[in-house]
Amino acid sequence: MTVLELKGISKHFGAIQALNDVSLTIEPGAVVGLMGDNGAGKSTLVKIIAGNFPPSHGTIRVQDREVHFHKPVEARESGIEVVYQDLALCNNLTAAANVFLGRELRRGVWPLRILDYATMYKRAAELFKELKSETRPRDLVKQMSGGQRQAVAIARTRLSDSKIVLMDEPTAAISVRQVAEVLNLIRRLRDQGIAVILISHRMPDVFSVCDRIVVLRRGTKVADKEIAKSSPEEVTALITGALERA
Ligand SMILES: Nc1ncnc2c1ncn2[C@@H]1O[C@H](COP(=O)(O)OP(=O)(O)OP(=O)(O)O)[C@@H](O)[C@H]1O
Ligand SMILES: [Mg+2]
Repeated sequence: MTVLELKGISKHFGAIQALNDVSLTIEPGAVVGLMGDNGAGKSTLVKIIAGNFPPSHGTIRVQDREVHFHKPVEARESGIEVVYQDLALCNNLTAAANVFLGRELRRGVWPLRILDYATMYKRAAELFKELKSETRPRDLVKQMSGGQRQAVAIARTRLSDSKIVLMDEPTAAISVRQVAEVLNLIRRLRDQGIAVILISHRMPDVFSVCDRIVVLRRGTKVADKEIAKSSPEEVTALITGALERA
């Protein structure tokens, strides 16, 4: 079974062809590195999968069912979660409040339904433990390191029954030690059978955690192969165009 199948996806913004006939198949537990130069179309592809906007052409299947997302919440209901580069966390809230943002747990009976903080803290603690993160539910996000923020964003994706997690440059702005932590979080998702698409400009990250590499160049897929059969040199050549295809 495939978690996600893209067929012939194209996207143009006016005269700009951001994606050109991209097809991609992802199996459960696969970690796919998506690489390409600035403007290659990586974020556009992720945004189409996540329901931010529709493709101009092409079809998307999630678990063998064709889908047409009109907004991100529909993609999320199909098991697609996204961790964006800017993370979109609320700095003045706790880790737990961020994990549950927009899907807060409540208790009691209407009209006396109140936020169920105790259960949210407990569940958030379980999620951080499952991800082997040191993050504490009551810590304020504004006092956290980049790696801890990543853990909060990734814990958010674990609330629902997600099938695939899309990560747009999660390690771009964090320290070396924190990068290792985030790569471990990705391995934990994989071990639970969740597929991950990792967008990164960092060759060592992609080669340490991904089992497949996909390269986009000016909107076209120019490589899709097992990482063990490629090399950082080959991928660099594919990204720049020194190598046409692989
Ligand atoms: N909303 C938009 N409106 C118009 N053009 C857009 C829009 N989003 C992206 N583009 C264009 O589509 C192309 C692909 O952009 P995209 O953001 O997908 O690249 P990327 O591979 O994510 O690059 P980067 O590595 O810099 O993040 C670029 O030429 C960009 O200018
Ligand atoms: Mg981008």
